[in-house]
Amino acid sequence: MKDQKNENLSAYEKAAQEGIDPRCIPQWLDGPVPEHDEIKYPDYPESDQQSWKFLYERQMKFLPGRACKEYMDGTEQLNLSPDKIPYLKELSNVFRKTTGWKVARVPGLIQSQNFFELLRRSVFPSTDYIRGKEELDYTPAPDLFHDIFGHMPLLTNKSFASFYQKFGEAALNAKGENSVKLETFHWFTVEFGLINNSEGRRIYGAGVLSSHKEVQHSLSDQVEVKPFDPEKIVVQEYDVWHLQPILFAIDSFEQLEKGFDEWCKKNGLLS
Ligand SMILES: [Fe+2]
Repeated sequence: MKDQKNENLSAYEKAAQEGIDPRCIPQWLDGPVPEHDEIKYPDYPESDQQSWKFLYERQMKFLPGRACKEYMDGTEQLNLSPDKIPYLKELSNVFRKTTGWKVARVPGLIQSQNFFELLRRSVFPSTDYIRGKEELDYTPAPDLFHDIFGHMPLLTNKSFASFYQKFGEAALNAKGENSVKLETFHWFTVEFGLINNSEGRRIYGAGVLSSHKEVQHSLSDQVEVKPFDPEKIVVQEYDVWHLQPILFAIDSFEQLEKGFDEWCKKNGLLS
């Protein structure tokens, strides 16, 4: 009887019963989502605008000298400012002119299949709501601060954008072990990647750039930094709940794109 009752619950309700934050359960999109010009600007309460300002200012203080140049250039191209939560449609317009990408507004964490289909079409799925006041330090769920501030600036970079489009394509072709390997690759590059450039070591991963703890931790001597090697990255273990003890550094976004492309071809994920 208990099981039968459970059958009638949605995945979110079941998760809530099991103690998992329902916002961390990926949901299937049941139809097309608004893209580019179709996206409306939500009527944010003043408290949301204040949260954005607080998060933006706190994080931006740490980024000069830590975030890579390509990311910092992207924040300027996107015209990010603490004064107003960005409008996804306006960000989408910048991508159209720089790398040909556009933005889609999604309701939360989406199923990987939906996510990869959007990436393959050079569409970046973003939320348009911001974490609550009580979660300013940490939220396990996606929100616009992570999506916009963390991910979007690099999407103005041609090599990174090209790599990310290929990632969507390869991920749609992957099954079983290869899917897990690509997920690991995504973690150590898109979310937690470092880059060595002429100025020194810098951050490009969105998970680091949108977390004030990771930003300080990732460049400290508590982290072992390994050179970029797709074969080693895809089998590296990681724990999503703690500060990362091992990270990988690329030498350029061209290296990231080329290395990923070669690994995928070798494994039959890209032709
Ligand atoms: Fe992310």
